[in-house]
Amino acid sequence: MPVTYLTLTIVGVMYGMNKIIGIIGSPRVDGNTEYLVKAALSETKKENEFETEIIRLAGKKINPCTACLACKDERRCIIEDDFDPIFEKMVAADGIVIGSPVYFGSATPETKSLIDRAGYVSLYNGRLFENKVGGPIVVARRAGQNFTFAQLLFFFLHQGMIVPGSTYWNIAFGREKDEVKEDEEGIKTARNFGKKMIWVIEKLKA
Ligand SMILES: Cc1cc2nc3c(=O)[nH]c(=O)nc-3n(C[C@H](O)[C@H](O)[C@H](O)COP(=O)(O)O)c2cc1C
Repeated sequence: MPVTYLTLTIVGVMYGMNKIIGIIGSPRVDGNTEYLVKAALSETKKENEFETEIIRLAGKKINPCTACLACKDERRCIIEDDFDPIFEKMVAADGIVIGSPVYFGSATPETKSLIDRAGYVSLYNGRLFENKVGGPIVVARRAGQNFTFAQLLFFFLHQGMIVPGSTYWNIAFGREKDEVKEDEEGIKTARNFGKKMIWVIEKLKA
């Protein structure tokens, strides 16, 4: 395992840090996805011992996996772009929320590129995300939320992560920026998901 991934894992375990990151898979800054992920993380901030960080994929270069399988020997991704610093933050976190808008019934390309590469590098380092807590949050104008929610859920479950439920699936409606603010149930679901993440993380560390 590269020294950085190992160190991040050990330091996290030793110091019992409670960190939850929210990855925004939309190319639109301050959009509906960001609003929802921040709603989930705002609940975690009420607990003093939880540190949170928002990571936007907007403006970052996350190329698709090329299936070179160099990660099998190198135990890191050899594609040179903005992937590695984000991956390191995922490794260091206790909780990972991945938010994406629906684009033609699917997660955005940048979200998919991130999970494809993160999933493989994690596997070839002994499953780095095992027992982390997390889940997806998805928003769309009209349709495709359930498919995209399931698409992202496959990543979390495949990686051995623990996905808490909420009061509904973590989906919401909105097209233009801020439109999601009118979806009270969607926001409440995101908030309750954040609360449930804290509950699970605290139980796991007790
Ligand atoms: C290229 C593209 C494809 C989209 N495809 C869908 C879709 O399949 N279903 C849908 O309901 N909305 C679709 N939308 C609308 C977005 O999901 C919606 O505007 C969402 O709120 C954007 O989130 P954001 O503000 O975080 O970027 C699409 C938008 C774009 C730009």
